[in-house]
Amino acid sequence: MIQKCLFPAAGYGTRFLPATKATPKEMLPVLTKPLIQYGVEEAVEAGLNTMAIITGRGKRAIEDHFDISYELEHQIKGSSKEPLLDEIRSLINQCTFSYTRQVEMKGLGHAILTGETLIGNEPFAVILADDLCTNGHDSVLKQMLEVYEKYQCSIIAIEEVPKEETYKYGVIAGNLVDNTNDTYRVTDMVEKPDPKEAPTNMAIIGRYILTPDIFDILRETKPGKGGEIQITDALLEQAKKGKVIAYKFHGQRFDCGSVDGFVEATNYFYNRMEA
Ligand code: G1P
Repeated sequence: MIQKCLFPAAGYGTRFLPATKATPKEMLPVLTKPLIQYGVEEAVEAGLNTMAIITGRGKRAIEDHFDISYELEHQIKGSSKEPLLDEIRSLINQCTFSYTRQVEMKGLGHAILTGETLIGNEPFAVILADDLCTNGHDSVLKQMLEVYEKYQCSIIAIEEVPKEETYKYGVIAGNLVDNTNDTYRVTDMVEKPDPKEAPTNMAIIGRYILTPDIFDILRETKPGKGGEIQITDALLEQAKKGKVIAYKFHGQRFDCGSVDGFVEATNYFYNRMEA
């Protein structure tokens, strides 16, 4: 059973400056809820209850968010505002949160390796809170756990993107398996390829289930695209052994790492609230 979910949350969020000068980008709200809370809710919905968060300097607000604020609780107790804290309280009651700091920003692969101390030797999920995912039925992570049950290897979520946008994503190539139309055994993967060099238009989005041998691979992974240690490069080593499945998830993803995606997500959730 997978119980732990890793949240790399050490990045600077430069695309949202000046908002992210003193506020972690994971704390930017879509309506009234910070991005990372959507991620934690998705993990809980998938049955995970141990959250492992990779932070960095200036990220204290994340720890405070997933903790009780006694002064605030005292102030609003018995008032009409009290229910506004129900959702976050319920998360705090259901999960444990642990944190470790990534001291140097050396890429997503390095951030995940930093989490080894919180994860140990067991398979685990990774959520990039920037990619806000929603689905009427099962959450993306829940769908992926079902795929994991079947294949017992690393699972990555993918989505088709316009070919000219491949430079923003890890891109995979693979073969459909088991008469499915949404599950591929990965044969190749490249981090942020130029559209001319991209093997396909199937892009990795920020949901992973990783087997713990990934840590040993990451230790050996040399800096790749952008001089950073890339999880895509480490996964390619597993893929060479047939141990990575890509799953075209059901649902919708908003790229909240960009202003456009953030506004789209905000409009989507606002309209849903009114409906
Ligand atoms: C990371 C990964 C990339 C993946 C993307 C999904 O990139 O390196 O392979 O496609 O997340 O959001 P980032 O967006 O952090 O630059």
